[in-house]
Amino acid sequence: MTALKERNILIMGVANKYSIAWTIARALAGAGANLAFTYQDERFKPKVARLVASAMPGAPLVPCNVASDAEIEALCDELKSKFGKLHGLVHSIAYARSGELAGRYLDTTRDGFKLAQEISAYSLVAVSRAARPLMAEGGSIITLTFFGSRRVVPHYNVMGVAKAALEASVRYLAYDLGPHGIRVNAISAGPVRTLSAKGIRDFNAMLRHAETKNPLGRPVEVEAVADAALFLAGDHSRGITGEVIHVDNGYHIMGI
Ligand SMILES: NC(=O)c1ccc[n+]([C@@H]2O[C@H](COP(=O)([O-])OP(=O)(O)OC[C@H]3O[C@@H](n4cnc5c(N)ncnc54)[C@H](O)[C@@H]3O)[C@@H](O)[C@H]2O)c1
Repeated sequence: MTALKERNILIMGVANKYSIAWTIARALAGAGANLAFTYQDERFKPKVARLVASAMPGAPLVPCNVASDAEIEALCDELKSKFGKLHGLVHSIAYARSGELAGRYLDTTRDGFKLAQEISAYSLVAVSRAARPLMAEGGSIITLTFFGSRRVVPHYNVMGVAKAALEASVRYLAYDLGPHGIRVNAISAGPVRTLSAKGIRDFNAMLRHAETKNPLGRPVEVEAVADAALFLAGDHSRGITGEVIHVDNGYHIMGI
């Protein structure tokens, strides 16, 4: 497939081979995209470097902790020198302290709330603003969200509130960036076993519930999430922006 041939796309959020961002990267590369990757910090570098070298040798790999405006700027400078232009950005990043992903939302601390919002929601604003000048030919920005933004999912707590802010940001960014030909959308993925998911108390119970209570009656495949990203990155979705697309086997339509 060559639907994304000559498109330069930045992938943010690979930690290991189980990361949703990694499956998305493989799908986009399979469609001919040129990819660049970020890693959070030195702890993550060896694993991400090995993955990228094995599957996409030569793809640029740049550090970027999204808490740092300086690192985001340096990333965009590096992309400018490596690629010149950017046509897409996959933001697959979230963080909250594990202590805030257990028990009562009522007990969320001021610092924990700020941290979850900064890393999981504000970072999309910061990277979109920094990447915009590189997206002179228009492009597609994609982020990852979860249904805990709209309904109570026990223990998801502060992250649910951050995802609500992220989804609202998608709409405001879509409005601001539309005149530049840049579309902004979110994929609301059903539960997938990843490093981040492990930090959520009783994640296995959440997974089992979502697997059995969805209309299709089966687990969400991470490859299906990646296929939605492939659609959003390419021209078949050219009329879609500011949207949250659910890839959850229909779980979100259920009442009980
Ligand atoms: N796993 C699920 O069930 C699920 C479901 C719906 C949505 N999501 C969302 O998908 C996205 C990817 O998560 P995942 O499940 O693949 O887990 P993951 O742990 O593989 O990915 C999370 C990524 O966020 C990065 N990150 C965290 N803090 C960062 C920072 N300060 N700077 C830069 N990067 C930082 C980590 O390095 C990691 O690569 C997240 O937004 C998550 O909320 C996950």
